[in-house]
Amino acid sequence: MALLDILVAPHPTLAKKAEDVTEVTDEIRETLDNMLETMYKAPGIGLAANQVGILKRMIVVDVANPEEEEPAPIKLINPVITQSSDDLSTYQEGCLSVPTFYEEVERPEKITVEYLDENGQKQSLKAEGLLATCIQHEIDHLNGVLFVDHLSRLKKNMIVKKLNKLKKQGAFDKRQDTHTL
Ligand code: NI
Repeated sequence: MALLDILVAPHPTLAKKAEDVTEVTDEIRETLDNMLETMYKAPGIGLAANQVGILKRMIVVDVANPEEEEPAPIKLINPVITQSSDDLSTYQEGCLSVPTFYEEVERPEKITVEYLDENGQKQSLKAEGLLATCIQHEIDHLNGVLFVDHLSRLKKNMIVKKLNKLKKQGAFDKRQDTHTL
């Protein structure tokens, strides 16, 4: 396994739409393992392939609390949300590609997501709470959308401007953030 570099916004790959995985190969499985390892190391609770410069529709998530629960990694290939609740919930979201910033984002509280697992088998998962938020946040990445895109333009521009400045200062060259999605 290998650690992958996480892209920091603004970056063109983070704004691009990822393409469907056409065949679940050993290479895909290895990439998913590397993504998980990278996510745990960050540490984070979710990571999308765009964030490590790969424009394929793959995400990994694990919302288990490492201090109280066993790891519960989920690898999702070509995830599609087939149902969303009308009820919404709000979480303060962060992102490994938007380090140091957290903002509240409102999303459907419950979702059903269909995807292929690492064996290429079709799966369906009902998620709610933090897991539902995390999966929606990661699928946004696959569509070139960041959580800051859900904020007002003013707020988003301010964050991107600050990130640009921090990047120029080399603030994220060796990161040890305690961030999330
Ligand atoms: Ni993110």
